[in-house]
Amino acid sequence: MSKALEGVRILDMTHVQAGPSCTQILGFLGADVIKIEPAGRGDITRGQLRDVPNVDSLYFTMLNCNKRSLTLNLKAPEGKEIFTQLIQNGDVLVENFGPGVLDRLGFPWEKMQELNSGLIYASIKGFGLYGPMSHLKAYESIAQAMGGSMSTTGTEDSVPLCTGAQIGDSGSGIHLVAAILAALYHRTHSGKGQRVEVAMQESVLNLVRVKMRDHQRLQHGPLAEYPNKTFGTSVPRSGNASGGGHPGAALKCKPGGPNDYIYVVFQPQIWEPLLKTMSRDDLVGDSRYSTPEARLERLDDVYALVEEWSSQHTKFEVMEILNEIDVPCGPIMATEDIIRDEHLRSRQMIVDVEHPKRGTFTTVGCPLKLSDSPVEIESSPLLGEHTEEVLTETLGYTAEDVQRMRDAGAV
Ligand SMILES: CC(C)(COP(=O)(O)OP(=O)(O)OC[C@H]1O[C@@H](n2cnc3c(N)ncnc32)[C@H](O)[C@@H]1OP(=O)(O)O)[C@@H](O)C(=O)NCCC(=O)NCCS
Repeated sequence: MSKALEGVRILDMTHVQAGPSCTQILGFLGADVIKIEPAGRGDITRGQLRDVPNVDSLYFTMLNCNKRSLTLNLKAPEGKEIFTQLIQNGDVLVENFGPGVLDRLGFPWEKMQELNSGLIYASIKGFGLYGPMSHLKAYESIAQAMGGSMSTTGTEDSVPLCTGAQIGDSGSGIHLVAAILAALYHRTHSGKGQRVEVAMQESVLNLVRVKMRDHQRLQHGPLAEYPNKTFGTSVPRSGNASGGGHPGAALKCKPGGPNDYIYVVFQPQIWEPLLKTMSRDDLVGDSRYSTPEARLERLDDVYALVEEWSSQHTKFEVMEILNEIDVPCGPIMATEDIIRDEHLRSRQMIVDVEHPKRGTFTTVGCPLKLSDSPVEIESSPLLGEHTEEVLTETLGYTAEDVQRMRDAGAV
């Protein structure tokens, strides 16, 4: 058994969330990820949202596992010298700086290709490398706003809402992983690297695809499966309507706390067994509910009926009972449910990691599982922890060379 990406060297020039989430996955898969950080403060997130004084924040540690850290001053001539050698010895360079940052530092794509024609140069930008908006910066909520997510998330009478899932940042990160792996595969037979990009707006739009489907259906009449009574010219916010071919809703459970709900999808075949389980045999065959079409006309009544029953049980009890009769459902998992969940822990999706300064922290593992290439989660690096190791072992510098670079303020 070996790591899937063993032998692939990633020059990780990412910061904040979108880029680091991509390179962390590549690290989980076994690539040698060298995180190149400005000397002094490093990735800005090391110091953001700190819970423990003078220790790398969870913001940083949960997005930078399985990496080595090299500090490098790219504005110093000696720093550029080291960077040039890293490019010559790298397979993939990943960055998510603001538009044009690496060009301004003297490393446009043309120069990188001259230095290493096999290099894959991968970027995340808010709006891509070309197009009228390509010069703009972006953050998560901006991508959700402009990718179609916010206008379709919430209820009819709510403001447009962001989802808790970071689909603009980590969503872009995982899209970039796919693009990089495709470019690596392409290089195996072409021998050539290429320019790879993912725009945050477009990652969100890719995940909002079904709403663009509904936009076009809307031109032919109201969307029957939406709970909305009136429709305008764009897809409305539809609360928790399932968005698939079957209706669904989050239904209240005992004891009535903010996350005591279970989401139930009403496949056509579940209705009769569900009535029997709820001891509502009196409604079996009742024409108001007996067909999916009839139920679609009175979804509020259907949900109220099931909620009357579900609110007498906890969400996990309801899950167990409904699964016995093959009803697709999922309790609304609060973060405290998730962090102690046996299933997720058994699959190394919630993992405890030892960090040299903060002790143990809990992180989210690797969602990509490969049977012959297991993932081991290792701590995020301290700032510059591997500077000397990278310079000597990877670039062949002597101890004197390293000292010279330190004296010049390059590392
Ligand atoms: C996230 C973002 C808005 C942050 O903007 P920002 O804090 O102004 O940072 P930028 O990326 O624009 O610039 C980084 C600066 O650090 C400098 N820098 C970075 N690494 C360096 C190093 N190792 N040595 C010296 N300087 C370094 C760059 O040269 C640049 O300086 P400049 O402005 O003089 O050119 C911006 O990076 C961005 O839009 N990224 C693309 C989209 C994205 O990923 N968004 C965030 C999702 S979490």
